[in-house]
Amino acid sequence: MGRLAGKVAIVTGAASGIGAASAKLFAEEGAQVLAVDRPESAIDTVHAGHAAIAVLGVDISGDDAPKRIVAAALAKFGTIDILYNNAGVSGRAFVEEMTDEFWDRVNDVNVRAMFRLCREAIPALKARAKEKGRARIVNTASVMAFDTDYGLAAYCASKAGVGGLTRTLALELGKFNITANYVCPGAIYSGMTQTNFDKPEIREVWEKKAALRRLGQPIDIARGALLLASDEADFITGHELVVDGGLTLRT
Ligand SMILES: NC(=O)c1ccc[n+]([C@@H]2O[C@H](COP(=O)([O-])OP(=O)(O)OC[C@H]3O[C@@H](n4cnc5c(N)ncnc54)[C@H](O)[C@@H]3O)[C@@H](O)[C@H]2O)c1
Repeated sequence: MGRLAGKVAIVTGAASGIGAASAKLFAEEGAQVLAVDRPESAIDTVHAGHAAIAVLGVDISGDDAPKRIVAAALAKFGTIDILYNNAGVSGRAFVEEMTDEFWDRVNDVNVRAMFRLCREAIPALKARAKEKGRARIVNTASVMAFDTDYGLAAYCASKAGVGGLTRTLALELGKFNITANYVCPGAIYSGMTQTNFDKPEIREVWEKKAALRRLGQPIDIARGALLLASDEADFITGHELVVDGGLTLRT
């Protein structure tokens, strides 16, 4: 307990799945959290009763979203130690049939909005790192940053983009004592995957594929993000943390 005592964190995609579990875990570990998700999500209710979690309903891909999110964190908590970019969307379409709108939507949310929010938060992270000796960026990618499946061209491209963005952030921000790392979840039972994994025939295939013989739960990924957000990760930067229960060990 207390691994994030005294920290302020922004967590996006915090109304559901990995983001909701991370916002809760970060708060339990002592952080004050700005939990961000789409206005039409459950963001206004899902963290009710958690005094350390403030919520903001905003679409991260909106033009003014980065300014609104960073301004809200600074107004509420006065600083930012940790930016956890986790919000994401998926969807399947074969390349031959994929519309520009589909490609753009997946890449807008998963990587462009992430880049824009990092850019907006960097001055506050730099100021905090100067004062406290460290600040953190943690991003959610996917094992689809390096693997693939039918229909996942847009998603895989966006998640590979998260890797490239994060490694470059790590390089550029290291001298300011800001680390940047990314988590690659495997098959996790969440809002995104629930419909599929509630079908026993699909669930069993994915359970069998993982060395640990189970689906991941959002808390499994939240714990990986916590490690990268904590002071214990002081010398870890530009790292790809695969949290997949051994899903991708075999070819
Ligand atoms: N579930 C998996 O198996 C899995 C595997 C690898 C990576 N991931 C990644 O993990 C992250 C979290 O996904 P999850 O599995 O918890 O799914 P989820 O659907 O339960 O949660 C994603 C959240 O992001 C929010 N979101 C989507 N678009 C947004 C936008 N434009 N603005 C603000 N919020 C937005 C959604 O409203 C939702 O609450 C995503 O980046 C996803 O790509 C998930």
